[in-house]
Amino acid sequence: MQPLKRVLGSLNSYRFITFGAFVSLLMLTATNAVTPQLFRWGIDQGIAQKDLQTVLYSGGLMVLIAIGRGLFNFGQSFWAEAVSQGVAYDLRNRIFTKIQNLSFSFHDQAQTSQLLTRITSDIEQIRTFVGTSLIQVVGAVVTLVTISVIVLIMNWKLALITLGMVPLAGLLMVRFLTTTQTLFSKIQEQLGDLNSVLQENLLGVRVVKAFVREPAERERYTRLNNDLVKANMQTISAIRNVFPYIFLLSNLITLAVVGYGGAQVIGKTFTIGELVAFNSYLLFILQPIFLIGFAAPVIAQAAASAQRVYEVVDAEIEIRDRPNAVPFEKCGGRITFENVHFRYPGATTEALKGISFETKPKELIAILGMTGSGKSTIMNLIPRFYDVTVGSVRIDGRDVRDLTLESLRSHIGIVFQETTLFSGTISDNIAYAKPDATLEEVIEVAKTAQMHDFISSLPEGYETLVGERGVGLSGGQKQRIAIARTLLTDYSILILDDSTSAVDAKTAAQIQDALDDLMRLHTCTAFVIAQRISTVRNADRILLIDKGLLVACGTHDELMRNSPLYGAILESQVKKPTVV
Ligand SMILES: Nc1ncnc2c1ncn2[C@@H]1O[C@H](COP(=O)(O)OP(=O)(O)O)[C@@H](O)[C@H]1O
Ligand SMILES: [Mg+2]
Repeated sequence: MQPLKRVLGSLNSYRFITFGAFVSLLMLTATNAVTPQLFRWGIDQGIAQKDLQTVLYSGGLMVLIAIGRGLFNFGQSFWAEAVSQGVAYDLRNRIFTKIQNLSFSFHDQAQTSQLLTRITSDIEQIRTFVGTSLIQVVGAVVTLVTISVIVLIMNWKLALITLGMVPLAGLLMVRFLTTTQTLFSKIQEQLGDLNSVLQENLLGVRVVKAFVREPAERERYTRLNNDLVKANMQTISAIRNVFPYIFLLSNLITLAVVGYGGAQVIGKTFTIGELVAFNSYLLFILQPIFLIGFAAPVIAQAAASAQRVYEVVDAEIEIRDRPNAVPFEKCGGRITFENVHFRYPGATTEALKGISFETKPKELIAILGMTGSGKSTIMNLIPRFYDVTVGSVRIDGRDVRDLTLESLRSHIGIVFQETTLFSGTISDNIAYAKPDATLEEVIEVAKTAQMHDFISSLPEGYETLVGERGVGLSGGQKQRIAIARTLLTDYSILILDDSTSAVDAKTAAQIQDALDDLMRLHTCTAFVIAQRISTVRNADRILLIDKGLLVACGTHDELMRNSPLYGAILESQVKKPTVV
């Protein structure tokens, strides 16, 4: 219930609307409490005394009260809904901002589809709780107390007999709640699993088809879908099982009122009007119990949802500005790795085991090593996607952890191995980090990335729309857009991580030549994960990485002479110059 308390705490931002909803609720309860008294008055003073005027008065008042009831009912639910929309709005924004601030290590471990479920269905669950169930339960409790007091005053003996049933009903509800609570968390989890499979299949539809795994995937999905229906049916039967007992209780109460109350009317200690009023109050006693019964599963569900949402909201941001972090104004581009050890969160072995090197400003460094040797990991430490476990990474002599993240990253241009494009035009995507770039600037970087001719050949040129994952473009074309996007930023350090891997040999050669030209200008310090012999030859120095260790460092000629491993890796990894 702790997470629900936090949800309630968030109502504080909407205290005026909440107050309005609460006042409406009180007024609604008051109108409910008055109506049976009008009945009593109309019957005892009107009908029994044969006084038509009193009958009409009481009837007229009842109409007025009914109008009031409608108004207060509207106010109560309208304001409650308004508060719930506000709470959901805040939560959605908060979780989105949080997800953006969370470090790579969080996203390494989190499942996208689970996060999607949290932002959509879990927050909706919380919204329903705030907008509907909360006001229902509070209203039910207020009504229960008010009506109990009134019936106790009216006829305490009869009241005690009837109210004795309330704890029984309460007991039923508690039993119901405990059985359904676990079921509801299970359902939410299963929904997440189902979404995971759905998402995997949407993103990986080509792989599924290529390996003819449609039947297997369909079976996996159907099985989870079945489980979900089964769990849902279990809860539904749990809900349905409670109601017969409630109906039984309500009939027992009516029996008690008609029997015991009827005897009192015959004995003339209770009037017929009082009996009718009493009987209508009973409705107001049973209704709250029903309402709590209806609200209980939603509350249980909301509690489970709130717990999951707050898990993300509370997740620790591992990579963040230190309290005394300073902005990194001017970047010279001298990068120092000093005895850097790094272990990925949750991993048992170190990915980097004591790496030390220093670049000169504007040096072109090629990095060479087998797959999994730690090349990308080294690159990830410079913009602080992860923090070193031991040792330090410094730029111009300053530890990257002492700089503000935003300023640090603004000096670094990266082309990742995997390309992500956003929905929008090609020109939007190239200008992603610099939205105010002119078309000339966009065209210039597109030319460097060997993409201009292709883009110009499209009917809509730079205004061509690409999907969220750049649908309609080949892997190589997407990668070239990503290169152009990076070239447009104000980087002093450029990192190209396997950035021509998805490009055919001929295009790779063209891109690399263009990039080599660019880097020969020595406008920035550049790290290139080497794939071509020309890159290695062009590089001022080559770092040779093997199993997390820096095993050799030097120019191509030096390494050719001194390192047998270098020759072997060149042989196996690096594409020979293509004959164009
Ligand atoms: N996000 C991650 N979480 C855990 N281990 C990782 C992660 N990324 C890479 N590794 C591991 O770290 C090692 C180095 O990986 P990486 O730097 O990507 O190699 P390279 O880029 O040289 O191919 C590998 O053993 C890999 O399994
Ligand atoms: Mg890599």
